[in-house]
Amino acid sequence: MIIEDFHWRYATKSFDPGKTVGESHLQILKDALRLSPSSFGLQPWKFIFISDASTKGKLFPVSWGNKQVQDCSHLVVMCSPLSLGDADVDKLLALAESATGANESGLLKYAQIMKDFLSNLDEAQKQRWMSEQIHIALGFLMAAAAQIKVDTCPMGGFLSEEYDKILNLKEKGLRSVVLCALGYRDEADKYAHAPKLRFKESDVIESL
Ligand SMILES: Cc1cc2nc3c(=O)[nH]c(=O)nc-3n(C[C@H](O)[C@H](O)[C@H](O)COP(=O)(O)O)c2cc1C
Repeated sequence: MIIEDFHWRYATKSFDPGKTVGESHLQILKDALRLSPSSFGLQPWKFIFISDASTKGKLFPVSWGNKQVQDCSHLVVMCSPLSLGDADVDKLLALAESATGANESGLLKYAQIMKDFLSNLDEAQKQRWMSEQIHIALGFLMAAAAQIKVDTCPMGGFLSEEYDKILNLKEKGLRSVVLCALGYRDEADKYAHAPKLRFKESDVIESL
């Protein structure tokens, strides 16, 4: 049951560095990322899976002491493109045409709405909008991982500009937004048994 999985999961502080997420589970997690929804379906993201110990070692000193970066099996660096515009809309349009055979004029109208929406955002607004989409994918990733008993830790505590330099992201047209460590909890991690701190349903949900 998904709610049991959500009780099971927690933001893992200590990973067992000797345990690796296997290929079949990695594939499920990659599929979950790819199937995440995004505004207009524009998918303004790229996800970099890092298992290489020396790369993780370089990233750790610029990760606000989050040792999960080093000890996890795979660190997912969730990135947004540096720019997003007409060419990206056209790429989605081409995919929609080939996948659905939909009427071209309807699609063109929809594409124009997307282009207008993007061109009305300044760079900071656009980055924020992309970051919002990427955080939806982060939620999907963690939810999928919980269902297959892979531990995760979402992390905003890192120096994004340093990550971008170490991973040569600018050259790839990318910027790091948020991280997610994947792996298996160290059985001694005391946070695994900490109570879930959640406000009461009546505090956060209103039914009209
Ligand atoms: C966007 C985001 C960024 C976070 N950044 C960090 C982080 O840098 N380091 C960390 O240990 N936990 C981080 N967390 C984990 C939260 O502290 C944790 O999810 C929250 O306290 C709820 O606890 P739970 O996930 O164990 O249920 C982050 C969570 C989110 C959603």
